[in-house]
Amino acid sequence: MSRPRVFVARVIPEAGLAPIREACDTDVWPDELPPPREELLRRVEGIDGLVSLLTDRVDGELLDRAGPQLRVVSNYAVGFDNVDVAACTGRRIPVGNTPGVLTETTADLAWALIMAAARRVAEGDRYVRAGRWRTWGPMLLLGSDVHGSTIGIVGFGRIGQAVARRATGFGMRILYHDLSRATEAVERELGARFATLDELLAESDVVSLHVNLTDVTRQLINRERLATMKTNAILVNTSRGPVVDQVALFEALRDGVIGAAGLDVTDPEPMAADDPLLTLENCLVVPHIASATHATRGRMASMAAANLLAGLRGERLPNPVNPEVYDRG
Ligand code: DGY
Repeated sequence: MSRPRVFVARVIPEAGLAPIREACDTDVWPDELPPPREELLRRVEGIDGLVSLLTDRVDGELLDRAGPQLRVVSNYAVGFDNVDVAACTGRRIPVGNTPGVLTETTADLAWALIMAAARRVAEGDRYVRAGRWRTWGPMLLLGSDVHGSTIGIVGFGRIGQAVARRATGFGMRILYHDLSRATEAVERELGARFATLDELLAESDVVSLHVNLTDVTRQLINRERLATMKTNAILVNTSRGPVVDQVALFEALRDGVIGAAGLDVTDPEPMAADDPLLTLENCLVVPHIASATHATRGRMASMAAANLLAGLRGERLPNPVNPEVYDRG
């Protein structure tokens, strides 16, 4: 029997590649950069399974080019806004993602950004490297206290709650906002209080974003909402870049409307080296690395492989984002 044909759109850790190679005829895109669109469309022709990354747009055009034999799309990420899920569901193709395994690692990075922005860590490092450190200074690089302040968490799923759990160790008042309330048990365990988005933005010293990118959350943090935040507030985004209006953020940081920002995600990605945000000392940007630890990327790879291989066998994916494909009818 011939082995299924699979395209893996980038080199992922061996924990995922090894089982895929063992079971499939595997074509792996070898470059550091994602396959250009035309190349991606060419490589998917005739495949049975696809491992996509958040840099690859999986839409109707791609699915048509792949052909009717395509049985599974396994996205190597928890977010799947790069995939047109409706187009996959319409063709009864299950889509898998990698939830859970990157929760704690992502929360760690959100905290790295919170601490770094509040205590001006990147700025301090630049200061030392530039040879500007001449003495201990009573007014040098003053920041804001994180302990005892108020954190507002927008999006209170797994990652948002993991960020809240860490905030309890800093004795913070914890507000959260989501489309629906967490259970009483979760609120009690984390000492978190539900707030409207308006309340949360007005009262928080730190605002951390953990929402999926949807039509509702696109540009959620816009000029008007930034204007309602505290002037010393820190905005941290480890969700998706388009959740924040970046032009408005630049102006807010430049004009002292808010205090500082820490961004793991930008719009677009990569951020151009001459982006105005990079001229601001109170803006810290890292290149979408929230899940980037050896252990977590390995776990994501195993999970992506498990989704792919289950789909190829015609079994239910361990983590389908469109379980409705399994409905009868
Ligand atoms: C995700 O998984 O969605 C992250 O953004 C990258 O790991």
